[in-house]
Amino acid sequence: MSKQDWPIYRPGFYSGIGGRGLTESQRLTLDRVFDSYGIFLPEEEGERQALIESFLQAITGEVWFEIGCGMGEHICGRALKNPDVTLIGVEPFTGGLASAARKIDKDNIQNIRLLRQDAHLLLSALPENFLTKIFLLFPDPWPKARHHKRRFLNQDNLDLFHSVLKPEGQLILATDHDDYRAWTNDHMSVREDFELLTQDVWETPEKRPDGWIPTKFEEKSFQKQHVCTRWIYKAIS
Ligand SMILES: C[S@@+](CC[C@H](N)C(=O)[O-])C[C@H]1O[C@@H](n2cnc3c(N)ncnc32)[C@H](O)[C@@H]1O
Repeated sequence: MSKQDWPIYRPGFYSGIGGRGLTESQRLTLDRVFDSYGIFLPEEEGERQALIESFLQAITGEVWFEIGCGMGEHICGRALKNPDVTLIGVEPFTGGLASAARKIDKDNIQNIRLLRQDAHLLLSALPENFLTKIFLLFPDPWPKARHHKRRFLNQDNLDLFHSVLKPEGQLILATDHDDYRAWTNDHMSVREDFELLTQDVWETPEKRPDGWIPTKFEEKSFQKQHVCTRWIYKAIS
């Protein structure tokens, strides 16, 4: 994939969430990494869709998608272990993207594409049967009942996940929030189009599931004595 297939320069990049606190060095790294690996989507829907289609055509091999890639620990770890896969990470928080950019720069990772946006914007523009894996790890729990409608896991998004996943593609979910755990189980229990492959529960680093890639967020959960859960579902027809 050539770098011209991806970016469109968009002014005002740093005016987004968290962008003002960046050091000059973080900005330079973010610029350099986004110049090669950033996705900048035009505001206008037709232009946006055309750009998305052109960059998707340039991808060969599996595509994995991380919603809310935070500081990039997980997406970078996966990218290093799976050099033939293209990983798309979407994160609205510029400070998180700056950390991800530092890791990408340091390890010279070339198979990640980053977008600073609400993940729904790109997910809903993807073709059907396109992704092999979707990761939604430790989504914001929105604990207050009046904010539950903001939770990323909901039946509409599960319909969307199912449509953009390939048959037998995987949906990987994790949380350390008790109510979000119950919410996830409730939402997934009514889905006949997703089959549970495995569920792991741990509350210390030693008990992490095999192959787990730690993030700062998950590590903090141990200090709070939270229990972490990870589910792997398979999309079925
Ligand atoms: C609790 S953090 C977890 C970060 C990371 N997944 C991890 O496990 O370390 C949740 C992340 O989701 C991001 N986020 C929230 N809503 C989002 C959305 N609609 N699209 C993409 N990312 C989102 C937040 O900015 C935040 O970085």
